[in-house]
Amino acid sequence: MVGNLFSDVANTVEFVQLAQRFASIEGWLGPADGYLLYRLARDGEGAGAIVEIGSWMGLSTAWLAAGSKAAGRETVHAVDVFDGGPMLKDQDIIRTEGTTYHRFSENMETLGLFDHIEPVVAESAAAARQWTKGPIRLLFIDGDHRYPAVKQDFDLWTRHVVAGGYVVLDDAIDAYPGVLQLYRGILADTAHWQHQCRAGHTETFRKIA
Ligand SMILES: C[S@@+](CC[C@H](N)C(=O)[O-])C[C@H]1O[C@@H](n2cnc3c(N)ncnc32)[C@H](O)[C@@H]1O
Repeated sequence: MVGNLFSDVANTVEFVQLAQRFASIEGWLGPADGYLLYRLARDGEGAGAIVEIGSWMGLSTAWLAAGSKAAGRETVHAVDVFDGGPMLKDQDIIRTEGTTYHRFSENMETLGLFDHIEPVVAESAAAARQWTKGPIRLLFIDGDHRYPAVKQDFDLWTRHVVAGGYVVLDDAIDAYPGVLQLYRGILADTAHWQHQCRAGHTETFRKIA
């Protein structure tokens, strides 16, 4: 049976081309996770902003912005202190330059995506408390992975997520017990969250109410 063979192949070709396009950006996001972000940004239901917590040099930002831009949809609010936060102080670029912002902006310019991104150079909790851009339809959480911090990101930002909107949580894996603890808590909260899928290291939930 041919079935969806040709559309499956077209999606695979698209995935490979995007992964090649973003391959030079240093970061931790795998291509499966990236393609999930791309498709949610491009095709996810609902109206509202797209917000990313934790951009680093823009790998996940690029997947999100490319998806949203392809559909002529919302810009991506990229929230990051850009100094590595508490987890990444030992990275060469932080030790030598103190920030990834210039690398982030160069990468986004080179890819032709900077016009679809609004950088928010701020601590995530402060940015959430000052958020004035209305409902959020897609939230990607990849900032500080320690439990109190990631739980705070989830609690403060998901207040703005619309019913039917998506939250993608990165790194719910053994190496990050804080994120894993949060993931298990959301999974158990079936009155408010419906688990959608795992792709690479990301877990995606849809807000019920
Ligand atoms: C794992 S990296 C993000 C990786 C990125 N999503 C990618 O695809 O490569 C975590 C980022 O979160 C940022 N960060 C850590 N704690 C933060 C906080 N409290 N507020 C804002 N950004 C924070 C760091 O500066 C760092 O750039």
